[in-house]
Amino acid sequence: MIAGTAPYPRNQWYVAASVGELEGGPLQRWLLDTPVVLYRGASGEARALLDRCPHRGLPLSQGRIVGDTLQCRYHGMRFDGAGRCVDLPSGGPVSDRLCVTPYPLVQRWQWLWIWMGDPELTDPAAIPDIGPFGFGREDWCDEVGPLLPVAANYLLPFENLLDASHISFLHHGLIDSGDVAAQPFTTELHGDWMRVSRFIENETVSPLTQATFAMASGTANRTITADAHAPNLCGIRVDITGTDNGGEGTRTNQLMVGITPVSRGCCMQFTAIAQNFPFANPNREADVRSLLMEDVEAMESIQALIDKIDPAQCQEVSVNADAPAMRMRRRIIDMLAAEGSVE
Ligand code: FES
Ligand SMILES: [Fe+2]
Repeated sequence: MIAGTAPYPRNQWYVAASVGELEGGPLQRWLLDTPVVLYRGASGEARALLDRCPHRGLPLSQGRIVGDTLQCRYHGMRFDGAGRCVDLPSGGPVSDRLCVTPYPLVQRWQWLWIWMGDPELTDPAAIPDIGPFGFGREDWCDEVGPLLPVAANYLLPFENLLDASHISFLHHGLIDSGDVAAQPFTTELHGDWMRVSRFIENETVSPLTQATFAMASGTANRTITADAHAPNLCGIRVDITGTDNGGEGTRTNQLMVGITPVSRGCCMQFTAIAQNFPFANPNREADVRSLLMEDVEAMESIQALIDKIDPAQCQEVSVNADAPAMRMRRRIIDMLAAEGSVE
């Protein structure tokens, strides 16, 4: 299995949207090769349904929210959050088949997680907990960051985030002056999470890092930690110590990225940011976006090549720095095998 063509496991929780995205009414989103409509009705609970009216097939996302139901724009039938038809304006019996597939949707922090796998296996306790990373904590500040569509297989950004050895080159000047790639790293397993850390001592940090951490000088000790949860979640934590930034102890900036397949060759990156000190950089949204777009452009270039090149010329050759990503890839292969969908 290579990243550009990897199938995705279905029996997983994926980030479907952030809560603010539902404020404008029903939202259509393609997830796992399926059109989904997300909406929040009068009860306040966010819902997800297959975005296709069972009557004549208009996308339900073109309709409107009525109370706790979604009304189709074509003939006005209304469906509740469980997908049942609760109003048939043209009259007559409501057949059992006049229903829409519902998908379990659970809000945790400001993200909505969807389960599109086997309904029998739905277990909200299996949603990865991002609380320990600083999200939803009163003594931290946090916010939803940019949403980035990526024209590449989900495994490319997942492994990209886990691999800090690229930042000395792909992000040279933006978040690294060249010291990170050659640093030794440690790998630890914590339950379903894998942590990869690199410590860089007495480093001259980039202007973007200075702005993020409100540093008065450009010298610091920096720890970069990637926390990966296969197949779709990766956090990047930066800890800064030894600066004259006016703070005490360690200042931490935590980026969390939820990766959700749209199809085999496309995915979405949902981002979130938390800090154990007040947000200081007024341009942080644009800065995070431009940083991640360097990755997105690289992932899309890799994908474009995979899509065209002879598969016999598509092999990957891994090096020591890829060991954490390869361990995560094996976990994903196990997930696929458990679903009977490994190729
Ligand atoms: S197509 Fe939706 S009510 Fe007819
Ligand atoms: Fe990157």
